Amino acid sequence: MLQLLEIELTKNKKQQPAADQLGFGNHFTDHMFIMDYSTDNGWHKPRIIPYQPIVLDPAAKVFHYGQTIFEGLKAYKTDDGRVLLFRPQKNIQRMNRSNERLSVPELDIDTVIEALKQLIAVDKDWIPTAPSTSLYIRPFIIATQAQLGVAPSTHYQFIIIMSPVGAYYTEGVNPVKIFVESDYVRSVKGGVGEAKTAGNYAAGLKAQELAKEKGYSQVLWLDGVHRKYIEEVGSMNVFFKINGVVHTPALNGSILDGVTRNSIIQLLQHWNVQVAQRPITIEELYEASRKGELEEAFGTGTAAVISPIGELNWKDDVLVINKGLTGELSKKLYDTLTGIQMGKLADPFGWMVEASAVNV
Ligand code: COI
Repeated sequence: MLQLLEIELTKNKKQQPAADQLGFGNHFTDHMFIMDYSTDNGWHKPRIIPYQPIVLDPAAKVFHYGQTIFEGLKAYKTDDGRVLLFRPQKNIQRMNRSNERLSVPELDIDTVIEALKQLIAVDKDWIPTAPSTSLYIRPFIIATQAQLGVAPSTHYQFIIIMSPVGAYYTEGVNPVKIFVESDYVRSVKGGVGEAKTAGNYAAGLKAQELAKEKGYSQVLWLDGVHRKYIEEVGSMNVFFKINGVVHTPALNGSILDGVTRNSIIQLLQHWNVQVAQRPITIEELYEASRKGELEEAFGTGTAAVISPIGELNWKDDVLVINKGLTGELSKKLYDTLTGIQMGKLADPFGWMVEASAVNV
């Protein structure tokens, strides 16, 4: 468990961007957290320092063999000035599952929570308060050993940076158009699809670029073996409301176990809406639409929150969902989830963790 953190405050505070200039991931706060690992000393030397470039040896393993993990979570400032984190333990637990898959050493959950709290306390003035804004937190680990043999690194750095953000998509909370990818695949069971590691995202860029050229925001991935089961969207899990029941692909070893996905399932069940976690084929989705049974579709993710899907394109067959408008359930989920996150609505699930108890 982390005790006293070494803190070096910046002498040059940056100018903060206006709320309408935020976008996603463009601006970074004044400080960052950093901690080292070596096989001899384990995780050690936790510290908060001014936000700055990191210096790495060109032979650092992260550059060559991609041993790196990241997470994404958010902090919010409530109207009465409290700072709340959304389910931080879930992200750190998932980080440890990703670590395990990529042979990266495990993190102590309490240490990371304490690091988050202290870093947020130092940069709390950076948490935006305008509607649909928040402080996005990006913890990540990189393999730093300078050695070219293909083997797990003996040295790592765990770093946390923070970015005040607005909506992830330029559409804001309006429906996005998604291209169903038929040529490229993201992952297969037994691979690293379940891990939050950079390679999964790098592998998706080509398809995303091609989809963008055709006017689509992201791609919807199909499974890598049969090329027919729906997996996930570039940065979101997906849900479909068909005949009153909400369907989402079951966690099958190749898709991400999203924290927002898990929260939406809990919320729906709390409202007595039936949720089916199962393999879903793209054909049956089109069939449901033809029969007039596909009522809504939306994606979920930390960055995107709830993003309604207004259109799918699969092999040039365009499927418009709910007339391209935001569905009633998607809107209710968005309002409820963000209401809980901003401390405006009751939190019956005990999701929010107060970060403002720390004085720095
Ligand atoms: C998140 O929602 O935190 C993600 O990881 C998406 C990110 C790749 C932008």
